[in-house]
Amino acid sequence: MLDAASVLSDRVSAAIESAFGLSGVDPVLRPSQFADTQANAALALAKRIGRNPREAAATINDHLDLSDVGTVEVSGPGFLNITVSADWISRQLATLVADEHLGVPQQERRTIPVDYSAPNVAKEMHVGHLRTTIVGDSLVRTLETLGHHVIRQNHIGDWGTPFGMLIEHLLEVGEDSPEADLLATDPNAFYQAARAKFDSTDDGGAWATRARERVVKLQAKEPESLEIWRGMIEHSKGYFHRIYSALDVTLTDDDLAGESTYDAQLAGICEELIELGLAVESEGALCVFPEGFTGREGKPLPLIVRKSDGGYGYATTDLATIKHRAQTLGADEILYVVGASQALHFKMIFWAAKAAGWLTRADGSEVTPIHVQIGSVLGEDGKILRTRSGAPLRLSWLLDEAVEKAGAVVAQSRPDLSDDERAVIARQVGIGSVKYADLSVAHDTDYVFDFDRMLALTGNTGPYLQYATARIRSIFRKAELDPTQARDAVAVVEPTERVLALALLRYGATVAEVGDLQAPHRLAGYLFELAQAFTSFYDACPVLTADEPTRRSRLTLTAATLAVLDHGLGLLGIQAPEQM
Ligand code: ARG
Repeated sequence: MLDAASVLSDRVSAAIESAFGLSGVDPVLRPSQFADTQANAALALAKRIGRNPREAAATINDHLDLSDVGTVEVSGPGFLNITVSADWISRQLATLVADEHLGVPQQERRTIPVDYSAPNVAKEMHVGHLRTTIVGDSLVRTLETLGHHVIRQNHIGDWGTPFGMLIEHLLEVGEDSPEADLLATDPNAFYQAARAKFDSTDDGGAWATRARERVVKLQAKEPESLEIWRGMIEHSKGYFHRIYSALDVTLTDDDLAGESTYDAQLAGICEELIELGLAVESEGALCVFPEGFTGREGKPLPLIVRKSDGGYGYATTDLATIKHRAQTLGADEILYVVGASQALHFKMIFWAAKAAGWLTRADGSEVTPIHVQIGSVLGEDGKILRTRSGAPLRLSWLLDEAVEKAGAVVAQSRPDLSDDERAVIARQVGIGSVKYADLSVAHDTDYVFDFDRMLALTGNTGPYLQYATARIRSIFRKAELDPTQARDAVAVVEPTERVLALALLRYGATVAEVGDLQAPHRLAGYLFELAQAFTSFYDACPVLTADEPTRRSRLTLTAATLAVLDHGLGLLGIQAPEQM
């Protein structure tokens, strides 16, 4: 790692080991008023080793070799105050600038299926799907950058009872009709039309009966029903793609692994659970009763794996996903990026999968399933975001609106550009603002959707960061230099140069943390800090007008900032406009 904290942490831990023979002791690095950082380990260790903290600190110091990094001083009751040298920072920066990964470590490769987005066929994606899509996509990009083998799994809802009525409706309107097109343009309208026929009593319920029979035919894989069902999935895929490409999300058809793909496994899953003694009949249904899960009046909570009518539901399919991902895909870790409201569902699924032995590999090691809980997007009234009339919000409307509002911002800031140029920027800024507003909040926290706040050019917003990159690009245009070629030695002299350089060195450690903790908001927070550090630097230090070699040094620092901002925004799935 290039960052000061990682390097110092290792050095202090090593010193503690050589001083006291204790390995893996936390150096307790904390911000210091008088130095870059202070290590407080001696205070925590004193009791354990039976010495006073100041002595302990002095002993650690005797074993601590920081000659190449900086200077250290014992102070107060037993702090080790550490100041890194300008020279060390310069050398670390040179490594970062020359590194194609910009200091992002290549971790030991793990196989990680990531379940995200997962909209439902013939239903509009709602803002909940927006979040699982954006957060999931940022996580896959980050994990891949850290060197992992990521397998995207788009667990679309493409199976189950509503499909009887949907197929029946499609059959009636015809696959080439404008109504069928609604599946790709306005899925809710298609769904509601089918629903209206289903609910209608005008025909004495004949239509509803046909729809119910259709489900049975579909589940029995009757060729005509399957064929129409496939057509319907095709139409819906058109809709998913439109949203994914508008959102600049990396999911493709190859990543589709919907509920229907597990159909053939479900009976076997139930059999296996029965054989293992995990599933038992209860009130006609087949249930697993995970240990320690109780409902009202302390009654054990069931995970229903086969309903009393013989049908399988969401729980059975998810047991199939976890088994498949652990055993067939060879996962080391499995991420489910799904709404927080499904926390109990996943806890029970994880329990059952573990009890069934599906999470234990041949060598005895364990596969770790993780539910990355996604919070809600709220309206100004603090309730789940809806239209004024209370209808679910159309995601495509929301995105169009963001781009249009961004267009107004760009029209004001860049009247000099052509309409086409402005349209490109407006799209990047509009979509970027929505994604950043989402990613800058911890994934399990709710937030209030507010166009004006997310589109603001100041504060912790996407457009602020995009603007920071565009501004740097314009500096290089003025200098008639290619920023990727600026690789001169950086002299760290001014305080703002030092702050900016130390921030740049933290990039790799930050990305590692985002992957390890599934926390894209930490990257967002980091990039915001970096952009602010750049602004302070640029306010205090002339770049283009500085004398050589300061000018080259500062241009390299500026170029490194651009590279990191651009790369970091890329991991969030946000494009940075060339100009803004
Ligand atoms: N389709 C579901 C929904 O819209 C989400 C599925 C999430 N993934 C999973 N493996 N359960 O709520």
